Amino acid sequence: MDLVGAVKAILATLKYYLPAYVANGAPVVFKGKTPIDGGRYFIDGRRLLGDGKTWEGLIAGILAGTSTAAILSLILGEANLLILGFVASTSALLGDIAGSFIKRRMGIERGKPAPILDQLDFFVATTVGLYLMGVDLSLDVVFGLALVTLGLHKTTNYLAYKLGLKEVPW
Ligand code: CTP
Ligand code: MG
Repeated sequence: MDLVGAVKAILATLKYYLPAYVANGAPVVFKGKTPIDGGRYFIDGRRLLGDGKTWEGLIAGILAGTSTAAILSLILGEANLLILGFVASTSALLGDIAGSFIKRRMGIERGKPAPILDQLDFFVATTVGLYLMGVDLSLDVVFGLALVTLGLHKTTNYLAYKLGLKEVPW
């Protein structure tokens, strides 16, 4: 595949992933207060998930991602994009939560960086969700999109930090 072909393939797959990106980014803007783990600790003495994973963030993310999917579905005239977007958004946020669970088990505190994991937890979960829904994903394209996502994250997080939405630039 040439470069133009690769870019086209990634763009064609983006309609499935876009709701997940929005879902993953939305909680940063809304910033919730009610921790999903209810402040509870795991058997290792560390927080189950930490204060960075809230119910408000989870709900805002699912709503924002699914709204994005609704708009995409209307624009492209593809009804199935709505349900797929809901699944992608929910998967993305569950992946993000799983990422925090893993970080806490590794002894990494809330908000401290875990390179790769921080950027790709939601992406991997989204891919699994889309795959389970029967979306025909090409491994090459998913891998390419993962690389784009790694780079994108640095940019968007830095922007969010500059805008005062995030305390740290990662
Ligand atoms: N957020 C939220 N609820 C979620 C996910 C995210 O409220 N379900 C908000 C929190 O304010 C969080 C911010 O979005 O601080 C950024 O998300 P993220 O980087 O995933 O959380 P961290 O604070 O870095 O925590 P962790 O170390 O657990 O990843
Ligand atoms: Mg983080």
